[in-house]
Amino acid sequence: MKILIVGTGYVGTTTGLIFCEMGHQVTGLDLDDHKIKALQAGKLHFYEPGLEDLLSKHVTAQNIMFTKNSKRAIEENDLIFICVGTPQCDDGSADLTYVKSVAESISIYMNRYKVIVTKSTVPVGTANLVTKWIKESQDEQIPFDVVSNPEFLREGSALHDALNPDRIVIGTTSETASKLMKELYQNFPCPIIETNPKASEMIKYAANSFLAMKISYINELARVCDDLKINVKDVSKGVGLDHRIGPHFLKAGMGYGGSCFPKDVNALIQIAKENGKPLSILESVVQVNEGQPRYFIDKMKQAFGGDLKNKIIAVLGLAFKANTDDTRESPSLNLIDRLKVEQAKVKVHDPIVKMAGHSDQFPVIEETVADADALVICTDWDEYKNLDWERLKLLMNQPYIFDGRNILDKGILESLGFHYVGVANH
Ligand code: UDX
Repeated sequence: MKILIVGTGYVGTTTGLIFCEMGHQVTGLDLDDHKIKALQAGKLHFYEPGLEDLLSKHVTAQNIMFTKNSKRAIEENDLIFICVGTPQCDDGSADLTYVKSVAESISIYMNRYKVIVTKSTVPVGTANLVTKWIKESQDEQIPFDVVSNPEFLREGSALHDALNPDRIVIGTTSETASKLMKELYQNFPCPIIETNPKASEMIKYAANSFLAMKISYINELARVCDDLKINVKDVSKGVGLDHRIGPHFLKAGMGYGGSCFPKDVNALIQIAKENGKPLSILESVVQVNEGQPRYFIDKMKQAFGGDLKNKIIAVLGLAFKANTDDTRESPSLNLIDRLKVEQAKVKVHDPIVKMAGHSDQFPVIEETVADADALVICTDWDEYKNLDWERLKLLMNQPYIFDGRNILDKGILESLGFHYVGVANH
């Protein structure tokens, strides 16, 4: 099949490359000159393990090409995936400006029947809106169908997730479009859920919000466990082995971040409000998440006798989670801001993220922790798990470790003379 992917971010680029792997011919369309030039040269404009090799393979084999030419791309392709961003508006709802502008371009350049698929996470009812926007700006009526086909991949494991989905959701009322979509996904060994576009759109929000809810649940529970000196990791394990609950997304830490959970939970809250059925459970999920870095700072202050003023704090990790260069809504940045309010002196390190203009960022961990009163783990990067602690202790001013991701071994660190504080990691 010939497939057009509009929007070459995480979702668009990964989706396009997965289709290449399945033997399809893909065009990636984006208006950003910088992104297109990089992709044409086989270079990713973001960090995602394994993806650049796949990109370079398919660019070389000419299975994928990238362009800024909307007219030609739309005319030549009859299966079009919308993968553009849907940022958050001030009121928490999703901003559909980019989706709308893609719909309008499609309607202008549509030359024959097209199937238009929304892969971006969009509010319930967006497939219907896309249909309306296209119809409104069409001079002559050319038939088309709109399908909702949400993406569930995670940053940092995008390739694995896109190749091994738990399910594929196809939301459409058109038999022609449904047949085409099933053919496209025929080699994926997972269930295909066929439903209408609205239910499909709701599935995506409901799934992300449920996962965020699991995280906030375990984080709030961790605060109770902390007081009772219970190891929350044992609780997660014991609870997660119940197959009705499952072991995933029960890791207590500094709260969830990223480009999806914070935005999608807020968008669903907004949708519920607009329909007069507030989702109070999700409002609490947000509240707990926002409080988690504050909770952690309070633990730090307590360890230092109530005050962090002039303390030198080495923050390890800026990304919102390991294996990504994304810092959007990163709990780490939230913590750094709060540390500055507390008048602490902050030094930072991240193996991949480079914060432009961040004068206190150091390329090596040793330099970052030198003279520090405390070291804080903010991102669960593998390389922070097995550091040469004896050596680092010698470099530090005071041996305090605050493990915001519960990735370190408290017993080992304490035997080396560190004062260790995790998130209910007793
Ligand atoms: C998420 C969804 O998982 C994915 O299905 C969707 O398509 C996009 O949004 P992503 O944002 O890439 O993916 O990251 P994810 O791995 O889900 O983690 C989100 C946040 O939750 C991170 O900050 C992570 O550190 C945190 N998290 C995750 C926890 O704090 N505890 C956990 O147990 C799991």
